[in-house]
Amino acid sequence: MDGSMTVGYTYSGTGEYRVDEITVILVRGKELAKGDLVYVEHPKNGSPVVYQVTGVHPHRRVREYEEALLQEGRVLGDPEGTTIHARAYQWGWLDEAGSLRPLRHPISPNTPVRIAEREVIARFTKPNGEWKLLLGTDPSTDLDVELGVYPLIRQSALICGAVGTGKTTTAVSMVARAASLNPPVRFFVVDKDGEYSSLIERLGIDRVLKVPWMRFFQPSDIPWEDYLAEFGWQKTWWNAKILVKALKVLYAQASPVTKHNLRKAVEYVGAESLGFNKKADEFEQYRQQVMNAITGSRLIPDGDLMPLDPVDLLKDRHVVIMDISTGKDTWSQKHLVVAQVLRRIFGEALENRRFGCVVVLEEAMYYAPQRGVFDLGDKDARGKLLGVVKEIATNGGRNGVGLWIVTQRLATVDKTVVTQCANNIICHSLEDLDRQRLAEIVGDEFSRLIGDLPQGEAIVKGTALKCRFPIWVKVLPEVYPASATTTPMSRFVHMELASQGEAPQPQIALDD
Ligand SMILES: Nc1ncnc2c1ncn2[C@@H]1O[C@H](COP(=O)(O)OP(=O)(O)OP(=O)(O)O)[C@@H](O)[C@H]1O
Ligand SMILES: [Mg+2]
Repeated sequence: MDGSMTVGYTYSGTGEYRVDEITVILVRGKELAKGDLVYVEHPKNGSPVVYQVTGVHPHRRVREYEEALLQEGRVLGDPEGTTIHARAYQWGWLDEAGSLRPLRHPISPNTPVRIAEREVIARFTKPNGEWKLLLGTDPSTDLDVELGVYPLIRQSALICGAVGTGKTTTAVSMVARAASLNPPVRFFVVDKDGEYSSLIERLGIDRVLKVPWMRFFQPSDIPWEDYLAEFGWQKTWWNAKILVKALKVLYAQASPVTKHNLRKAVEYVGAESLGFNKKADEFEQYRQQVMNAITGSRLIPDGDLMPLDPVDLLKDRHVVIMDISTGKDTWSQKHLVVAQVLRRIFGEALENRRFGCVVVLEEAMYYAPQRGVFDLGDKDARGKLLGVVKEIATNGGRNGVGLWIVTQRLATVDKTVVTQCANNIICHSLEDLDRQRLAEIVGDEFSRLIGDLPQGEAIVKGTALKCRFPIWVKVLPEVYPASATTTPMSRFVHMELASQGEAPQPQIALDD
């Protein structure tokens, strides 16, 4: 080890020297910054025991007359009396097998502390094996930060950050890279705003398929109560009995549930078969009510377009994007369809050991909201969806279905889901409120490191990293979200030109 690498020596103001956290007095002229990695030699075997710097501050002898001088506007330059203290906490050391171990032996007071060179850091940041993807670089060393793919599936991932901090860019880049590995990871992306379409250009139409959400809708999968709930009918009402009977007729014939088929089935339902013994024209009135309800239903499809099977689609494509950006006021129906699709995927994975995929939920609060915080759509449909998302979050990984959630607001997403996915966390800059929430999930140390990160930078922690400690990453985009091609300014340029009656200039990217 080179003596010139020594940045400082361990020090304790109280005389107690701990190993889990150290204070370093910097040698004059040396520098450290929050997030940097340093190490001391293992007292027994000489391996580097790595610490991460959590804070750096100057410390100066306090002089009684200083206050009085400052009041007179006289600043006392006292470089001799000023030292720089850095606080750092222990990551640990790597044993021969490459496992991280905590230092349990004491280190003597005033032990030299060295700056961790690239080779040392690389040992801690590169996951073993080949099935891994590049996330970005560590800005202090310029080393690549890579994530192991297996833990990202087995233990899921959470990508969070405030508005416009780069969450979607990170997620879409990770999908693009993982889908290009050997073997390629398969993804089912629930895309709220059509942001993932840029993957089509990046990976090609053979590998990516974008499907409008309605095409997954399985009308015959819907329990009868859901139809009754749509119309607000009780089971015991005559109109409800007629509808259920008609549905039974369809199921018995294995005919698809469509408006046309269901109307025909309703015509077959006889009063006596239901035990209706009042006047016949009264029964016809009920029948007519059912006919009207079917016509106005949003759950019952018009034609018998065959619903698509997500499992089938994933056999031939690396990425299937379920585009739910169309249709504004139909959240309860979207919830129902997303729940159907996720159930199908998870069900297949449970039965078929040759199937797996990663489910990506962009804007997770729309699918797994924390109760009482963000309520959208209908309670019933929402509950069903939350149920299956929770199940995938807790049991998906071990059955080959990983869950990656992207969210802006941690507090609005269901606690169980966030906590499960936080086994791997890629955290961009956060609002204060969410930083507190984060501290509850992954601890203070991590949330203190976040600070104000520039766009595109994040703190990463989790099982997908080689070390279990947070690393600062400048994310290298592979693909940008579709929205990134339209800047807010270009929209206003467009409007201004239009209002002046000029044709927009072709060189300005104006389109959505
Ligand atoms: N890693 C990065 N490197 C460089 N620029 C980036 C990076 N990530 C994001 N950006 C820039 O920041 C912009 C916003 O990124 P992005 O849409 O990914 O953020 P977001 O957090 O998903 O935003 P929103 O909260 O609106 O969903 C992008 O248009 C891109 O220009
Ligand atoms: Mg986004």
